[in-house]
Amino acid sequence: MAVILDCEITAHKEVAPDHRRMVARAPEIAAAARPGQFCMIEVREGFCPFLRRPMSIERIFRDGISFLYKIVGHGTRLLAGAPTGMVINVQGPLGNGFPIAQNAPRCILVAGGVGVAPMPGLAEAIMLQTGRVPEVILAARTERFLLCENEFSQMGCPVTLATDDGSVGYKGYAADCLRLLAPDDNTIVYACGPTVMMRTVHEVCAEADACCYASLEAEMACGDGVCMGCVVETNTNNEFGKMARVCREGPVFDTRMICWSAYDDR
Ligand SMILES: Cc1cc2nc3c(=O)[nH]c(=O)nc-3n(C[C@H](O)[C@H](O)[C@H](O)COP(=O)(O)OP(=O)(O)OC[C@H]3O[C@@H](n4cnc5c(N)ncnc54)[C@H](O)[C@@H]3O)c2cc1C
Ligand code: FES
Repeated sequence: MAVILDCEITAHKEVAPDHRRMVARAPEIAAAARPGQFCMIEVREGFCPFLRRPMSIERIFRDGISFLYKIVGHGTRLLAGAPTGMVINVQGPLGNGFPIAQNAPRCILVAGGVGVAPMPGLAEAIMLQTGRVPEVILAARTERFLLCENEFSQMGCPVTLATDDGSVGYKGYAADCLRLLAPDDNTIVYACGPTVMMRTVHEVCAEADACCYASLEAEMACGDGVCMGCVVETNTNNEFGKMARVCREGPVFDTRMICWSAYDDR
C-alpha cells in the first residue's frame, strides 16, 4: 500500500559525475517496499515542476530507503540541490517489484548505467530469501559511470564489468557479456538499463531459454495507474487490450510479454 509522506533527507552525495545517492527517512515506505518498486518524488514544493519524478528504490533499510539517480533535466537538477536535513515529499512504494524465485539455481543481474539503481536491493533480497548469491554484470559507456561495484563486491557477488569503450572490463555491451556467462533454462536474469540493452538481454535470454525480468521506464504523470500516460504494448491481452501500465502492471515485466518491435522507431 503506497503512502505519501514528508521525509527527511539523511544523506545526499555525489557518487559519479552527475549521479547522486539520496537516503530518505521513511520507515513506513521501507516497511512496505520490495526491490524493483519505485517512488514518485516531489522534487520541489509547489507547482513547478508540476509532476513528481519516478525513482527506483535502491536499498531498503529499517528506517528508510535510498535512491540512486542521474541528473538529466530540470527535476533531477532541483533534486540534486536538496541538502541533507531538508524534507521532501515522497509517494511510495509503487509498482510490482521483481519476483524472487525460491528455486532458481542461478540468478544474474544485468545493469546498464544508472539502471543499476534497483539492483543492490534486489541482490540483498535474493541472498536473504534464497541463500543464493547472484552474479552481476555492470555495464556503462565508460569506467567512471560504472556504479555500485563496491556494494556488490562487499555482498560477495561475482561482478563482471563491461564498458562500451573498453576502459575497464569487457569491451562491449551488457548482452554480449551475458552471453559469455552462458545462461540456460535454470537461470533467471534481471535487467534494468537503456531500452536497447534490455531488449538485447531479452534476446540472449530467449535464445538460451532463460527467464528474464526487466524493469521498464516510461514518462509518468500520476505514477499510480490513473492517467494511462505510461502504457507499453505487450503480447498478451488484458483489461486495456494489449497495453499495460508501467507504473501499475510494471515496472517489472517478464520480457516475453513485451512487444519489443513497438520500440523500433523510438
Ligand atoms: C519506474 C521508474 C524508475 C526510475 N528510476 C530511476 C532511478 O532510479 N534513477 C534515475 O536516475 N532515473 C530513474 N528513472 C528516470 C527518471 O524518472 C527521469 O530521469 C526523471 O524523471 C527525469 O526528470 P527531469 O525533470 O530531470 O528530466 P526532464 O527535464 O523531465 O527530462 C530530461 C530528459 O529525461 C527524459 N525523461 C524524463 N522522464 C523520464 C522517465 N520517466 N523515464 C525516462 N526518461 C525520462 C526526457 O525525455 C528528457 O530527454 C526512473 C523512471 C521510471 C519510470
Ligand atoms: S503514470 Fe499514470 S497510469 Fe502510469
